[in-house]
Amino acid sequence: MSLLELDQVEKVFGTGSQAVPAVRGVTLAVDRGETLGLVGESGCGKSTLARVVVGLTEATGGRIVFDGEDVTNEVGDRTFRRKVQMVSQHPGQSLNPRLRIETTLAEPLRLLGVTDDPSEIDRRIDEMLTVVGLNPDYRRRRPGSLSGGQQQRVAIARALMSEPELVVLDEPTSSLDQSIRGRIVALLREIQERRGVAYLFISHDLSTVRRIAHRVAVMYLGRIVEVSATEAIFDDPRHPYTRALLSAVPSIDVRARRRRIVLPGETPSPVSLPVGCSFQERCPLVHDRCRREDPRLMESADGHLVACFAAVPAVSG
Ligand SMILES: Nc1ncnc2c1ncn2[C@@H]1O[C@H](COP(=O)(O)OP(=O)(O)OP(=O)(O)O)[C@@H](O)[C@H]1O
Ligand SMILES: [Mg+2]
Repeated sequence: MSLLELDQVEKVFGTGSQAVPAVRGVTLAVDRGETLGLVGESGCGKSTLARVVVGLTEATGGRIVFDGEDVTNEVGDRTFRRKVQMVSQHPGQSLNPRLRIETTLAEPLRLLGVTDDPSEIDRRIDEMLTVVGLNPDYRRRRPGSLSGGQQQRVAIARALMSEPELVVLDEPTSSLDQSIRGRIVALLREIQERRGVAYLFISHDLSTVRRIAHRVAVMYLGRIVEVSATEAIFDDPRHPYTRALLSAVPSIDVRARRRRIVLPGETPSPVSLPVGCSFQERCPLVHDRCRREDPRLMESADGHLVACFAAVPAVSG
């Protein structure tokens, strides 16, 4: 049993002709202690999926099972929130500028009902600051006197205070300089090794995802179009969208570097999707069936999942 299981999860904003289906039939699992990378272009629904997973917004369809328990309707539930935490893109905005770091770090313990004991809270604050590589003296400071990288360390510390089993990281390094990104990624990996926490790691930055993720899921227009082990995604991408996405990053794929795949047209609006595959208008491999039928994720013999009729499955044996 996986730690988190999403089964046909949907999130539609609004109703009628204005309805925006931001997340469409997502079936995905995160195992204990693993990092699942989630990639895809801007607006494909990554943050919406993240917010549904942590219970900040309600799914409009499907089922969410965490640790064997159905939490689909547990939005705001304390026990669940304790086990699943989130770190978002802008630490400066997610930390209250008026509060000392120690107050920010104590908050989840009190709000989520972990402990009220002042000496236990103190101990945990010092411990957690050390875990994220900050001197415990920082507890008296306010966010304004910290650098962006230090603020993101505080946001990570806050997420870890309640000892969650899953942390959803939504573009955690995007607002940071390249040099600081590497240090935050190293820190996250070290924390995972020590504590066995699982991550759902969302990022535009494919080279960062390659360094941190065990498996990668690729999202396009609210759907997951490909899932596999990180190496398989980068060395043997099978969905034409994944190939194009990777080919846009010169440092990533040796084969793709030879030929940059430029997709024709624009991503269609989620408000008016075509019948059949949502990638058909831009797809170099499109054929008749793709205009009639929407491909679901299909599994190859080697466990690689891809939602494409034209993607050739690997020959086993
Ligand atoms: N509160 C909302 N109301 C209506 N539509 C929304 C809302 N939030 C997101 N959307 C729409 O849902 C779709 C997915 O948005 P989302 O923010 O999840 O994408 P994303 O993959 O996180 O993008 P980015 O990479 O830019 O962060 C977009 O079409 C967006 O306009
Ligand atoms: Mg987002």
